[in-house]
Amino acid sequence: MSILFESSKINGMALSNRFVRSATWEGMAADDGAVTPKLIKTMVDLAKGGAGLIISSHAYVRPEGQAGPWQLGIYKDELISGLREMTAAVHDCGGKIVMQLAHAGNFAAEQLTGRVPPQSKMHFGQPVF
Ligand SMILES: Cc1cc2nc3c(=O)[nH]c(=O)nc-3n(C[C@H](O)[C@H](O)[C@H](O)COP(=O)(O)O)c2cc1C
Repeated sequence: MSILFESSKINGMALSNRFVRSATWEGMAADDGAVTPKLIKTMVDLAKGGAGLIISSHAYVRPEGQAGPWQLGIYKDELISGLREMTAAVHDCGGKIVMQLAHAGNFAAEQLTGRVPPQSKMHFGQPVF
């Protein structure tokens, strides 16, 4: 059988196999970045489907660092209970989940954050004239 199906460990975190769901924005969080039942169901489906480890979609760590709509957030205490619920649901299916922390910086979505990013005239490192 392929090594992909063998259990493994990452820094002490035991994984049932070596399949990893790459960090992927689902657009399933609430407007304020909170976990939703739809997002939990998707994570459960992934764990049940055999992803030994799920990397969450990029989660913004500060309100002004939001990159896109319905993006997962981790910038205020009120978001913790939903994140705990999602984590427990994945664990219940034998899966593991880790969070990708993110701050969009210069690429933050001004329409969503209400703040103009510094050097907003840059695009992929190139000035836009
Ligand atoms: C819709 C979409 C959302 C994505 N969101 C993220 C993300 O939140 N964080 C991240 O690091 N990569 C993100 N990616 C990149 C994917 O995780 C992945 O690296 C990319 O699709 C290439 O996958 P592949 O190497 O299997 O072809 C996203 C990709 C897509 C298509």
